[in-house]
Amino acid sequence: MTHGMKLQAALVAIAIAVGGPQAAAAQGSSAHSESGSEPAARSLYDRLGGLAPISVVVSDFIDAVVLDAVLNANPAIDAARKRVPAPYLKYHVTALVCQATGGTCQYQGRGMKDSHAHLNITEREWDRMVAIFKETLAKHRVPAKETEELLTIVGSTKSDIVVPGGVH
Ligand code: HEM
Repeated sequence: MTHGMKLQAALVAIAIAVGGPQAAAAQGSSAHSESGSEPAARSLYDRLGGLAPISVVVSDFIDAVVLDAVLNANPAIDAARKRVPAPYLKYHVTALVCQATGGTCQYQGRGMKDSHAHLNITEREWDRMVAIFKETLAKHRVPAKETEELLTIVGSTKSDIVVPGGVH
């Protein structure tokens, strides 16, 4: 099994955990469950407004991350963000968020371990990224429930991204 496949499986698991099994079934179709009485749960993707608003939030988030002085004090992060185009990161992160929230996108990028291991990301840098993420969601008036669900999705990648006991 490739890393990509492993990540895809994890994302499906996250989507189900977050949106519930009905979310996938209800996507873009019936607003009612099979019984016809209870309204079906809407996927996080739908509650966020779909791909257009998600792409705008991700774009703002990446713009803030690549300019952040705390993160760029890590020489490996600074070198990578100068080498890797921001639009490329925006494309991949948008696809990943779309897929993980129950959208129809297919994330085609590398696994989180593969794409971050060389960056030596510390706990402190992780916390800084989460703070920027929260600020971005607040700026776009993402409601509390959806913010929590997005933070859970992002949090599920932490053990693949943070280097334990890492310092610079
Ligand atoms: C402190 C936290 C993070 C930092 C500083 C960071 C920074 C970076 C950098 C510099 C790259 C380019 C690496 C390279 O190609 O050499 C990258 C790739 C990527 N990151 Fe992050 N990242 C962080 C967390 C996350 C999180 C939480 C996610 C998603 C949940 C994410 C998703 C991605 C994706 C999808 C790629 C592209 C993978 C590919 O090239 O196929 N990152 N990140």
